[in-house]
Amino acid sequence: MKGIILAGGAGTRLYPLTKVTSKQLLPVYNKPMIQYPLETLIKAGIRDILIIVAPDHAGDFLKCLGSGREYGCHFTYEIQDKPEGIAQAFMIGEDFIDQDNVTLILGDNLYEDDFSEAIKTFKSGGRIFAKKVTDPQRFGVVEFDANNKAISIEEKPKVPKSNYSVTGLYIYDSTVVDKVKALKFSDRGELEITDVNNLYLKEGSLDVAFVEGKWFDTGTFESMHEAISFARDRHLAKEARSL
Ligand code: DAU
Repeated sequence: MKGIILAGGAGTRLYPLTKVTSKQLLPVYNKPMIQYPLETLIKAGIRDILIIVAPDHAGDFLKCLGSGREYGCHFTYEIQDKPEGIAQAFMIGEDFIDQDNVTLILGDNLYEDDFSEAIKTFKSGGRIFAKKVTDPQRFGVVEFDANNKAISIEEKPKVPKSNYSVTGLYIYDSTVVDKVKALKFSDRGELEITDVNNLYLKEGSLDVAFVEGKWFDTGTFESMHEAISFARDRHLAKEARSL
């Protein structure tokens, strides 16, 4: 299993914080934001990791994370010239993925869960992770039938069919590359990850699991503030345990 951290984008929703740096390098309590998704991949046993960044602050990511040796990993870096969609990560990462399965995590998503089992048991198709939220309009939204089987996924629907958001960790087999190549750009000019999930859903090979612990998409000031409080509580609890 290979890993990709997508850490590009313009970060316009967090302006002016993102005037001089990337969103994923901003502090979340005592660490740069990107270190949380990185630790999620490492905890899940992934060691070969591609980090995709925007051109503006590419050197700062290298300075921040280095070669990966410090983490017992191997890091590769690629540039996404323009923020043309989350799914584009798989085209940028085509050679890196090769014939392997791949886990993509968004560089601004913070999870409490351990995904080791979900990754170990993954064979083929796609596996995504849903979480009940109060503001589903901000996310990809999964609709379930009476047997808890996913039947539709919509990107930022005005009238959501459920309160279950698709979170920013996606496990796919290597067919994801060809799936993305067949996609058309959406009205907002992006290759949509929701379209990828719908292709797997149509094939009958999409497994929708659930996030059990806390999950934060730190894309707004409010959610970033919540993530910082959570990271602080967790850090202080860990320190107290080690006394
Ligand atoms: O957080 C989960 C949500 O992430 C999902 O529920 C949605 O289905 C999915 O579209 C996405 O929604 P967001 O509105 O959070 O996407 P955003 O454009 O903020 O991008 C998420 C992260 O990915 C962000 O850190 C920037 C990065 N990104 C995004 C795009 C579009 C890139 O690096 N390149 C891109 O082209």
